[in-house]
Amino acid sequence: MKAPYLRCAACGGTLPATSPRADCRCGGLFDVVQRPLAAGPTLRARFDRRRRDGDPAVQGSGVWRFREILLPGRGPVLTHPEGNTSLYRRDAVARWVGHEDLALKHEGENPTGSFKDRGMTVAVTQAVRAGATAVACASTGNTSASMAAYAAQARLPALVFVPAGKVAAGKLAQALAYGARTLLVKGDFDACLRLVREASEAFGMALLNSVNPWRLEGQKTIVWELLQQRGWEPPDWIVVPAGNLGNTSAFGKALREALELGLVRRLPRVVSVQATGASPFFRSYRDGFRRRYRVRAETVATAIRIGDPASHDRAVRTIRETRGLVTAVTDAEILEAKAVVDAAGIGCEPASAAAVAGARRLVREGVFRRGHSVVAILTGHVLKDPDVVMDFHARKGRHRNPPVTIEARLPEVEKVLKRP
Ligand code: F0G
Repeated sequence: MKAPYLRCAACGGTLPATSPRADCRCGGLFDVVQRPLAAGPTLRARFDRRRRDGDPAVQGSGVWRFREILLPGRGPVLTHPEGNTSLYRRDAVARWVGHEDLALKHEGENPTGSFKDRGMTVAVTQAVRAGATAVACASTGNTSASMAAYAAQARLPALVFVPAGKVAAGKLAQALAYGARTLLVKGDFDACLRLVREASEAFGMALLNSVNPWRLEGQKTIVWELLQQRGWEPPDWIVVPAGNLGNTSAFGKALREALELGLVRRLPRVVSVQATGASPFFRSYRDGFRRRYRVRAETVATAIRIGDPASHDRAVRTIRETRGLVTAVTDAEILEAKAVVDAAGIGCEPASAAAVAGARRLVREGVFRRGHSVVAILTGHVLKDPDVVMDFHARKGRHRNPPVTIEARLPEVEKVLKRP
């Protein structure tokens, strides 16, 4: 078959790129096989020109800038636009992590406040081109917020499956506000994903979870944009929080293709960070990936409260090919990392802070050494989960900033100002 096409990672079966199917009948997941392209320097120059001069055809999108290696072919593109997120350096965060050369790429700056928009713009564009009449997803919150926004733009009905009581307020509010039909499922994310896979098949809706290969194509641009921001000089380490393992998988594919195309000469090493209470991938890693685990997940970082990650196999490939590693951090470490990132004026949601907590752990373990360049990915915006912030600061203690209630009188203000 002529590229681009879809190839099942498990059985090797192929489908045309325009197929509406998201996963293979054998139970495996499809990868997009991209067309071989112009050599690295030519591509780099083209991408750099688009970034410098703007790219009016796609409203300057930091995703569609890379369109040749994303979703080839003609047709309308559904963009918000998205991408073009900042790389921050903040002394306070670097000090807490214990590592000088630390940058934070803030994917919370995407239009709906998380990296999901990068995958969603591509997957919804592809779904529209394939003639979808409705879209659906399971979600811990961000995917549903993003899908709801892009479906609204595409004027497609959207159906969302989220675990009842376990979705952060900001995310649920977004899904409702953007007009998605929202189902609060009595079960966890893993149950939601099983249900939406059945429902999308039974009722003819396009499935937009990261089992959909086009989602990962879009999420590759986190890495490409990062490389571009660094003048195509890869960092030594990229640290990413991990739940369903879509991002870890997308990062591996992005790096593999960047190397094949000659965009870069060497690969950074990818680190996936899980929450201790939701760490099936970490357990599998410790076993040398000899077996796959399924666990009952619990963590304050509800975005990554996932016990049976769908993209396990593809993520294993990323860790192996980049000589990366997997680690896990406790909820207490996540909350402290979040407080430090927040107080630096950047802010992120709890799952994102897992990346920063993971970086600190690896510095302490002597894995990240002096001189290594480290980039941690902040995956979601601070306002996604206001309840965690309010709970944290309602108490006294290190990193805490409890609000103070006063009478509307000047001496009361003075009293507060005099307090240490
Ligand atoms: N960070 C945030 C903020 C997320 O929302 C997610 C996943 C992850 C990290 C983990 O990424 O699943 O690719 O390993 N959120 C999904 C959702 C599951 O439904 O919004 P992953």
